[in-house]
This record gives sequence, structure tokens and C-alpha cells, in this order.
Amino acid sequence: MSKAVSYKDLGLVNSRELFRSAVAGGYAIPAYNFNNLEQLQAIVTACSETRSPVILQVSKGARNYANETMLRYMAMGAVEMAREMGGGLPIVLHLDHGDSFELCQSCIDSGFSSVMIDGSHLPYDENVALTRKVVEYAHQYDVTVEGELGVLAGIEDDVVAEKSTYTQPDEDEDFVKKTSVDSLAISIGTSHGAYKFKLKEGESVPPLRFDILEEVEQRIPGFPIVLHGASSVVPAYVALINQYGGQMDGAVGVPEDQLRRAAKSAVCKINIDSDGRLAVTAKIREFLANNPSEFDPRKYLGAARSELVTLIKNKNEAVLGSAGKA
Ligand code: G3H
Ligand code: 13P
Ligand code: ZN
Repeated sequence: MSKAVSYKDLGLVNSRELFRSAVAGGYAIPAYNFNNLEQLQAIVTACSETRSPVILQVSKGARNYANETMLRYMAMGAVEMAREMGGGLPIVLHLDHGDSFELCQSCIDSGFSSVMIDGSHLPYDENVALTRKVVEYAHQYDVTVEGELGVLAGIEDDVVAEKSTYTQPDEDEDFVKKTSVDSLAISIGTSHGAYKFKLKEGESVPPLRFDILEEVEQRIPGFPIVLHGASSVVPAYVALINQYGGQMDGAVGVPEDQLRRAAKSAVCKINIDSDGRLAVTAKIREFLANNPSEFDPRKYLGAARSELVTLIKNKNEAVLGSAGKA
């Protein structure tokens, strides 16, 4: 890209004010991942209808999938669509799990209003140095930065949540001071994907480590905390997927009541990707099984999109508490 684009010219906002209000108001801003048109339409529709601020979240993989230029125009389209739906919304375009300074820089230069630099897998001092470097670049353009401490387990690593390395609150305090990050993702027992906990027969999901969260809150009062891996893995979608030919036995997520509790605390951003994937997959499977001669993608993608709207409205209204805060 020859000339840098500022998010301010695209009608986007950074996350600073949104987090301030969320921490003060005891709710969380939703961060929904998207890769395609229907997901973005659903996010904008649901957030406009519930009047919720929103973080549009793009992973490195999504950026490769959708093309960075296309994504920028999609984000502009989202801003305009929200305006046409009534009043507009505060919309953040955020890089999810940035893994290098260069990627963060490229996103900042192409119109992102917020980036995550995920150095959580690095030795502590290297994480500090890399995060500090991204912050120094980002803040020149008033772009906000999310860092991460503690390692979330993920299905791709073939490990489960109990093996995750929980965040250490004393490190959080030091990290925030040394890096000047705007928000921090911490590890309190969540993990990415649809298989967050390996439960034996009759066992229920172990509670998140609210004790760690409380200690973090005491050490860095009012500082915005981010929860990754926060999908509930909605059982009804898993059941539909399995009913219509899928195989997702043992998929389990974070119960909604735990997310509600987290949203009322220092957690002011909750990341949701897997629940959207499950809703889309469930509805496409169901639609195609019930309509075997249908081959118009608008039909099955339309069914998936409608379900996504329902899912996101419910998250905003009944789980995160962000409805009515735009
Ligand atoms: O945390 C990861 C997000 O769910 C994005 O996943 O890298 O497959 O796009 P992805
Ligand atoms: P889930 O896999 O629980 O949806 O988490 C998504 C996420 O943390 C994106 O960064
Ligand atoms: Zn994540």
C-alpha cells in the first residue's frame, strides 16, 4: 500500500472511550470476529438493533482470507450501514492476535483503529519489548493496543484449559507500567475453540479463576481487561450440527453466567468467534439437509446470517450488557 490510511477518515473509533465507559458501567464491549460479508452484515444489524458499540475483529488468517483492501472497504461499509440503520455506532476495527510488529504496523497503516500484539508465548522481557515497540508506533496515530499475558490453551495445541498458564497479577501490573498498553488480555481459564474443557461423565464446567481477576483489579484498578476464548459453545448449535451429519461430541464452552459476572468486573472486552462459527455451520447443515435441491448460496447463507443476528443480539442484551450503550 503506497499511502497510509487513517481510521479516523473511515468513520471508525479506537477503543479508549468505549473501555472507559464499559469499566465504569459494569459491562463489556463485544468483539466479534468476521471473515465474510454475511458475518459482517449480521454483526452490524444485531448491534444496530440493540444499540451496542462493537469491535470488529480480524485475525491474521481472516486478513489473508478476505484481502486487506477488501476488509478496509467492508469496515467502511459497516460504518455506513450502521448510520443508515439509525444513528450510527461506535465501531472499532481491531487486529486479533497480531504476531509481529510488522503486521501491527501494516494494519495501523491500512486503517485499523486498534491492534493486538500477542507476545504471550514469548519470554516475559521479550513480550514487554515487542509490546512497547508496537505501542510506540500505534500511539503516534492514536491507535489503541491490546497486549496479552498468560497462555490460553487451544484445541489446536491438543491441550485443554486446565493446562493453560494463568496470568500472574504482579506481572500484569509491571507489564502495563512498562509497555503503556491500553488493555490487557489475561488467562483465567478460558481457551480458544469449541472444546474448552474435557469433562468426565456428570462433571460440570470448572469456574473461571475469578480470584486471579480480582487480584488483577486490585493491582491495576480501572484498567481494561480482555477475555479471549469466551464463546459459550451454545449447546443447541452443537446438537443441530450433530443432528445433521456433523461430529462435534464433547464440545463445551464458558457458561453464560460466568461471562455475565466477568462483564460486570474489570473485563471490558469479550472475544467471541467460535459461537458465530457454530451458529453458521448449524444453520447451513440444517438448511441443506431439509432443502436438498436448493443451490442458491443466498438461501443457506441467509439462514445462517439470520441466526447470527439472533445470537449476537442475545450476547449483547443478556450476557455482555452492552445493549443500549452506543
Ligand atoms: O483467537 C482466534 C480467533 O478465533 C481467530 O481464529 O485465526 O482461525 O481466524 P482464526
Ligand atoms: P472463542 O474461540 O471462544 O470464540 O474465542 C475467540 C477469541 O478469543 C478471538 O481472539
Ligand atoms: Zn483470542
